[in-house]
Amino acid sequence: MAKLTVRDIDLKNKKVLIRVDFNVPIKDGVITDDNRIVQALPTINYVLDNGGKAILFSHLGRIKTEEDKAKNSLEVVSNRLSELLNKPVLFINETRGEKLESAINNLKSGEALMFENTRFEDLDGKKESKNDPELGKYWASLGDVFINDAFGTAHRAHASNVGISSNIDVAAAGFLLEKEINFIGGTLENPKRPMVAILGGAKVSDKILVIENLLKIADKILIGGGMAFTFYKAMGYEVGKSLLEEDKVELAKELLEKSNGKIILGSDVATAKEFNNDSKRSFYNVDEIPNDEMGLDIGPKSIEEFKEIIKTAKTVVWNGPMGVFEFENFAVGTKEIALSLAEIKDQATTIIGGGDSAAAVIQLGLAEGFTHISTGGGASLEYLEGKVLPGIAAVKDK
Ligand code: 3PG
Repeated sequence: MAKLTVRDIDLKNKKVLIRVDFNVPIKDGVITDDNRIVQALPTINYVLDNGGKAILFSHLGRIKTEEDKAKNSLEVVSNRLSELLNKPVLFINETRGEKLESAINNLKSGEALMFENTRFEDLDGKKESKNDPELGKYWASLGDVFINDAFGTAHRAHASNVGISSNIDVAAAGFLLEKEINFIGGTLENPKRPMVAILGGAKVSDKILVIENLLKIADKILIGGGMAFTFYKAMGYEVGKSLLEEDKVELAKELLEKSNGKIILGSDVATAKEFNNDSKRSFYNVDEIPNDEMGLDIGPKSIEEFKEIIKTAKTVVWNGPMGVFEFENFAVGTKEIALSLAEIKDQATTIIGGGDSAAAVIQLGLAEGFTHISTGGGASLEYLEGKVLPGIAAVKDK
């Protein structure tokens, strides 16, 4: 790739600022999914092993009040990182000031420090999120070189990524950012064909730009999940109590027309009368969904239809679950699609574009079956939309 990477930099004795995305889910003080931390380890270990002094930082949650601050300290994340690295990580509960500066100045080669949630700076005029020039410059002044490994935040132009990059001579990509660029960016630029996109999730409105961009790139686009019902309505079917975006029906019609047969919807759905796992599951062809039923998953015929297409693919990009995978009875479509992708792993590049579909696959224990599971939710969506991500753009070219 044309971007400078951590491999290109002399790290020895350098104060290495490393922006990671450790915005991980935490429940009752316990991290429930540490994948983003695990995925950043190669960069951190590389910096430490090559004699760098690692200064790590991330945002966590969104900070609007003092209570948000109390709930979103990175200390628990720093402790988890230390366990995973199997070495101490000094946690500094500040985002600026003398304590932080002297801790950094006392760091030795091969040692790691993590400072507090960058969005604590948002309480004072959204300094982090609005890329306050003074803040980016200050953070840049704390280090010698900057590594951005926070793909999950690459769609944001914040002080801790873009701000630092524009105030430091050396701004390079970490291994995770590089991997995401190679897999998602590389695939969009030059996919092996046939390329199949699988799109799901609740709303068409969230995926319009993705569909428009993928119509230019993919050979087929399979649509499931809640968003399918707006398309079924556009095709003239009644969708009962299913999720429907009335104001997007016309647009769905236009997309179908424009797609020239590329967009494919399944011929049946799994439904229930109520939105819960225990409501009786029924199956209907899409032209006979009863008024009092709501579609919560793709049906068995749709699964087979999708599998037939997937079987032939050389590239698959998947974003959004096929049904309400949080309910076991309606996770079948998502699980079957994940399994069919695992089956073609040797012949195809299979990429999951973050967010809910990544969570679903990890929750179903099927993560091993994929070439790449993105660590970005919003970031991978915007990447699939064809946008230039500011966090990537800010990394210097080789
Ligand atoms: C994410 O989880 O998608 C990223 O960490 C970005 O978080 P944000 O949507 O709060 O900016």
